[in-house]
Amino acid sequence: MTNKYRQVCDTLKANPKVWLVTGVAGFIGSNLLEQLLKLDQQVVGLDNFATGHQRNLDEVQTSVAAEQWQRFRFIRGDIREFSDCQQAVHGVDYVLHQAALGSVPRSIHDPITTNAANITGFLNMLVAAKDAGVNSFTYAASSSTYGDHPALPKVEENIGNPLSPYAVTKYVNELYAGVFAKTYGFKCIGLRYFNVFGKRQDPDGAYAAVIPKWTAALLKGETVFVNGDGETSRDFCYINNTVQMNILAATAPDDAKDQVYNVAVGDRTTLNTLFAAIRQALLAEGAAVSQQQPEYRDFRAGDVRHSQADIGKAKKLLGYDPQYRIEQGIAEAMGWYVKFCN
Ligand SMILES: NC(=O)c1ccc[n+]([C@@H]2O[C@H](COP(=O)([O-])OP(=O)(O)OC[C@H]3O[C@@H](n4cnc5c(N)ncnc54)[C@H](O)[C@@H]3O)[C@@H](O)[C@H]2O)c1
Repeated sequence: MTNKYRQVCDTLKANPKVWLVTGVAGFIGSNLLEQLLKLDQQVVGLDNFATGHQRNLDEVQTSVAAEQWQRFRFIRGDIREFSDCQQAVHGVDYVLHQAALGSVPRSIHDPITTNAANITGFLNMLVAAKDAGVNSFTYAASSSTYGDHPALPKVEENIGNPLSPYAVTKYVNELYAGVFAKTYGFKCIGLRYFNVFGKRQDPDGAYAAVIPKWTAALLKGETVFVNGDGETSRDFCYINNTVQMNILAATAPDDAKDQVYNVAVGDRTTLNTLFAAIRQALLAEGAAVSQQQPEYRDFRAGDVRHSQADIGKAKKLLGYDPQYRIEQGIAEAMGWYVKFCN
């Protein structure tokens, strides 16, 4: 743990708060829930199980103490319903808004449903949280907002045109957040996640992210497909870094608010290197994957070629200090997938 993060965690433990995690049954949401409960916080969770799972909540329950689990209250609800948002924010200090429909391809296939969850749902949450007078509102933005801007590494103020409906929705979130600061003095923090990965990221379904999808395919002896030549690169960010960033953002002073921050490591890994790293880590876990090779196919619509973050702003203004680089994250995550896929 870094000094700043440890300090914040110690303060929270000594003086617990009430948190709302939307999308709590999802990958990032359930990891936030786990860490917050381990810090003895009180947590309200909202989810409609669109892409999240009860099994994620069950797993959190087994990883925390019974009295910590009792500090969790789950609301099965939908952020597209304003009344559900109002119910969820009642009495809450900090909001971590994660609920949304992820995936660029999903948004290309069904932009209307993505828009409803990601824009209408976001606006509902924003209004409900503002009206309830919460102390802070931190939301999941996305590196997809950089769109076709060619510069690397990505710096927060230089964005291009969005390349997918999903990217539009995440950019609209930022626009609304900016307008709410100007219009109502309600200052949020947007976290532009760069390819987060780790335990409980769903390996199943047509819209699974690359690391869980490849890992599950390798473990089942199925073909791993690489979109393009494998030299596409990303700044893969282990979930523990993302959790750290959310907690730092939620508790940040006022002058660090009304901002967006990159959440990444500042590294760039190609898909070819990623494949080798996953196979290596699975071998270390005893999985029989040594012979498997990827199969290359066409590039995918809406994907950007390279992505790498400048994390200087988050370091400077929030004290963010990612403790996991991709190799360590992959090593930890693979142990979980080996168990999950068995
Ligand atoms: N994982 C990444 O690499 C990444 C990258 C950039 C941004 N994000 C953003 O981070 C957030 C969390 O993503 P994740 O990877 O944990 O995805 P996830 O699909 O695992 O989690 C999203 C959760 O939101 C819930 N949800 C969706 N629509 C809802 C609705 N209408 N009402 C209530 N709950 C709803 C889902 O059921 C799910 O539990 C999302 O906003 C996503 O766009 C993720």
